[in-house]
Amino acid sequence: MTADVEPSRLEPQVLPLFADRTPRVVDLDQVPAGDAAEVPKPDTSGLPAPTQRVIVGDARKIDLPDASVDLVVTSPPYWKKRDYGHANQIGLEDTPQGFVSAIMDCLEEWRRLLRPTGSVFLNVGDTYHKRSLMGIPGRIEAAAMDAGWLIRNRIIWAKEKGMPEPAKNRLANRHEYIIHLSPRPNYYYDLFGYSIEYGNGANPGDVWTMGLDRNMGAHLAPYPRELARRAIVLACPPAVCTTCGVPSERIVARTAQLDPRRPQAKRAMQLAVEKGLTEAHIAAIQATGVSDAGKALSFQTGTGRNSKSVQTLAKEAKDALGGYFREFTFAKKVTTGWTDCGHEGRTRGVVLDPFMGTGTTLQVALQTGRDAIGVDLNPLAPEVG
Ligand SMILES: C[S@@+](CC[C@H](N)C(=O)[O-])C[C@H]1O[C@@H](n2cnc3c(N)ncnc32)[C@H](O)[C@@H]1O
Repeated sequence: MTADVEPSRLEPQVLPLFADRTPRVVDLDQVPAGDAAEVPKPDTSGLPAPTQRVIVGDARKIDLPDASVDLVVTSPPYWKKRDYGHANQIGLEDTPQGFVSAIMDCLEEWRRLLRPTGSVFLNVGDTYHKRSLMGIPGRIEAAAMDAGWLIRNRIIWAKEKGMPEPAKNRLANRHEYIIHLSPRPNYYYDLFGYSIEYGNGANPGDVWTMGLDRNMGAHLAPYPRELARRAIVLACPPAVCTTCGVPSERIVARTAQLDPRRPQAKRAMQLAVEKGLTEAHIAAIQATGVSDAGKALSFQTGTGRNSKSVQTLAKEAKDALGGYFREFTFAKKVTTGWTDCGHEGRTRGVVLDPFMGTGTTLQVALQTGRDAIGVDLNPLAPEVG
């Protein structure tokens, strides 16, 4: 090996964690799927228990201060589906345009309430009217885009089961949408934590297959707790600075650990040991990526070396490992901490449901250590959906 670094030899099957340089053996057969132990939370032990607040009122005018909410998770009444028996209710407008306009008034108000890193998960279904789908979710997306919102995802809620439908010449509806939208591009988003919980480490995609909760008796919740939980895990910070409003964000580091259950990964580790590759070689592979280990002009932090030596190391590693070098670009990542803006004082992330109904969102927010605020013209209305 010709690289200008002093190599530290890899022990067979014991690959060091770059973050602390402590070699450790990881028996991945003992690690449960999802490896929850690798997802530490920021320390919220000094904070008061999560709080809940219910406001009786209209989702378009909410008595809360500007920039006081981290995430909106909600399901408005769908167009022409149900009468909630209140003069100010949304959902019974004469036209789809009227309905979308009411939803846009809501979004305007929620934009005011969101912190700069805030976003909205809006669960909405479509409606058949005069034998045609009205394309309500698409109309909302288009209007929101025109009003300056970023549409980040249109998630499909795929229902495992559904009510029988009388129509004989079309398929029964078995999905709804959850539109994720934000006023700004730098919204809080914990894809790593979410992927560990819902994707076994990989990005699990934009189809959420969920049944309805079973324990709601005659009054089925229009959305399952899992829907609220997914949104909160993804986009509500566990802790936020009370001085500057900046959330703590997860710090993720890549390790050299491969999953020995995969035969290719096992062979890559054997080759690395046989050929005398070092931590620096593995870091160089990871810094240069899968496309062409010799061509990196810049590299990610963590190697502590200049790009020329990284290229040399990556080339050596590629020559030694052949096609197996790619395995090290799939190495396990771990949480090493959470960012801290340096100010004193933190608060829990705040979840708002402006159409709270029975309070599904609030319940999940409290369970996941967030403060919860609900708004409804008829809070805890028994008939929801
Ligand atoms: C689809 S339900 C929400 C159900 C809720 N996700 C749950 O888990 O129970 C819609 C709710 O919006 C409320 N609502 C209708 N118009 C409203 C308005 N203008 N402002 C606030 N709430 C409203 C209704 O009372 C109803 O509880």
